[in-house]
Amino acid sequence: MLPKTNNNNNNFYDNNKLSSLVIDSKEGFKNDKPIVITTALPYANGEIHIGHISSTYLPADIFTRFLRISKKEVFHVGASDDFGTPILIKAEKENKTPKEFVDYWNKRDIEDFNAIGISFDKFYKTSSIENQKFVQYVFNKLNINGHIYEKEVIQFYCDFDKKFLPDRYVIGICPYCKSKDQYSDLCEKCGRVPEEILEPKCGICGQSPIKKRSKHFFFKLSNFSFELKKWLTDNKNLQVDIKNYVLHWINEGLEDWDITRDLDWGINIPLDDANGKVFYGWFDNHLCYISTFNALMKEKLGNNDGKDIWNNSYIYHFIGKDIIYHHFLFLPAIRMGINREYKLPDYIPVRGHLMLHNKKISKSRNWYIGLKEFISIFNPDFLRFYIAIISPSTQDDVNFDWDVFFSNINNDLIDNIGNFVNRTLSFTQKKFDGIVPEPRVYHEEDKIAIDAIMNIAKQTGEFLKKAETDKALKTILKFSNFFNQYFQKKEPWANKNSSAATTLYISINAVRALAILLYPFIPNSAEKIWSQLNNDDKLQEQSWESLSLLKILPSHRIGNISPIFKKIERKEIEKEKRKLGSIDGSRDKKNG
Ligand code: 2FM
Ligand code: ZN
Repeated sequence: MLPKTNNNNNNFYDNNKLSSLVIDSKEGFKNDKPIVITTALPYANGEIHIGHISSTYLPADIFTRFLRISKKEVFHVGASDDFGTPILIKAEKENKTPKEFVDYWNKRDIEDFNAIGISFDKFYKTSSIENQKFVQYVFNKLNINGHIYEKEVIQFYCDFDKKFLPDRYVIGICPYCKSKDQYSDLCEKCGRVPEEILEPKCGICGQSPIKKRSKHFFFKLSNFSFELKKWLTDNKNLQVDIKNYVLHWINEGLEDWDITRDLDWGINIPLDDANGKVFYGWFDNHLCYISTFNALMKEKLGNNDGKDIWNNSYIYHFIGKDIIYHHFLFLPAIRMGINREYKLPDYIPVRGHLMLHNKKISKSRNWYIGLKEFISIFNPDFLRFYIAIISPSTQDDVNFDWDVFFSNINNDLIDNIGNFVNRTLSFTQKKFDGIVPEPRVYHEEDKIAIDAIMNIAKQTGEFLKKAETDKALKTILKFSNFFNQYFQKKEPWANKNSSAATTLYISINAVRALAILLYPFIPNSAEKIWSQLNNDDKLQEQSWESLSLLKILPSHRIGNISPIFKKIERKEIEKEKRKLGSIDGSRDKKNG
């Protein structure tokens, strides 16, 4: 609502001009349906690092928060990926049961996600009872539908460890370049895939494994080539470059998937003759998106399952580019194989890898920055801001660089946004006793500034509804920069033509807009701005569209103020660079 003013020049400000954020089906979702967002499941065997945040969780969280504040019904679900040989082996090394081990990491994931504001509606686990039952149900249905068959395979077996060894756990000499100490499925020296590794050794104990026969179950991925092609071609929301090379894989011929492992840590295969076998982790993990969603619906609504809601929602799976094969072929084929009882994804946003100082992040090489460590040193919102600003919504890789981090935070976030917020609030505090002044005259620059506020919800919303988070954030920076210039140009300290009141009234409302705009990106800092504005209602109760309204009226009293951000000091960055420099990021500690 416009404040009363004796200036009749103000009819350019018309709330009806606000265009609605309803999104049409061509570009995104319509208003009416719920939105289910899933994020790739982290393996429960180590900490979340900045690479995970960048490729998956941050883009999904910004999108989720934007949808929530746009008053959409949205559910963000995730889980820890609890099964697999590496987890079993690591647990054994730590003298823990696999369950103790994965429970520890599941809890730790939740703590780390909370600390950086990744907001799940439910974060569960692939080892949950619900997931186990659901996976068995899906397998039985696939089996009945004729998509499963049995085949004998020959595998390396370590008699000492009493384990069948997955490829990664068989180390030997590359038959091509004769390099020692190479994986049986990849020679890291010459880059080739050995047909048969020479002098194979068990990667756990170093002894020579034997070859053993074992009966496995296969999923007939090849049954779905035609249907997959059609789905990929028809779905206009998938990234075109990715679609094209997935289509290319299909044309080259799809291999059936061995979905069993001879292990005792995993989900049991519900057949009498499958004792001692469990499902391969990639058979069960993506099904956990659905079982976790169902469990959430049960908690919320007491429903037996969430199938109807799932099928009536827009489904988004956020992933990193290393798991495209699984999400564009395996996951949809399995859903097709159970007669699409649960609908296929509408969107699969795929992001590239985060490099660390131009080298591939690798935990085994100790070339990574753990989330926990990062946020013990810096404001978690700094990481969110930096990653959001450097990451395009494509599968291009991005680079984490401490010097760029330093300048992005100090120059863009603090000197631009922090400065505008702070100068506006302090000026109001000092010159107007903390009371928003009544505007008296409107000049051309004021009209332009009000227009900027009125347009910004739509401008940024257009990007955010497509999860183009970097473009949205850059637009917000331009907005803040514009207001810094506006403030500077208007010189409210000189109060030329009694214009200070108008400048502050408009600027305070721009600060309000910024708090809402920044909420998806840097939620804690946005809350801090909001509390200094001293609004009666909560930030999260605002709607996205309302950020383009001048809702803070004259005579409103702002709260206690203090700088929103503290600048990073050069020496802090130098310290982090020295830490990196001390790591030998090129040596691979096998199985580390
Ligand atoms: O690559 C990984 O880290 C896997 N844990 C991702 C699983 S996503 C899924 F469940 F589909
Ligand atoms: Zn061994």
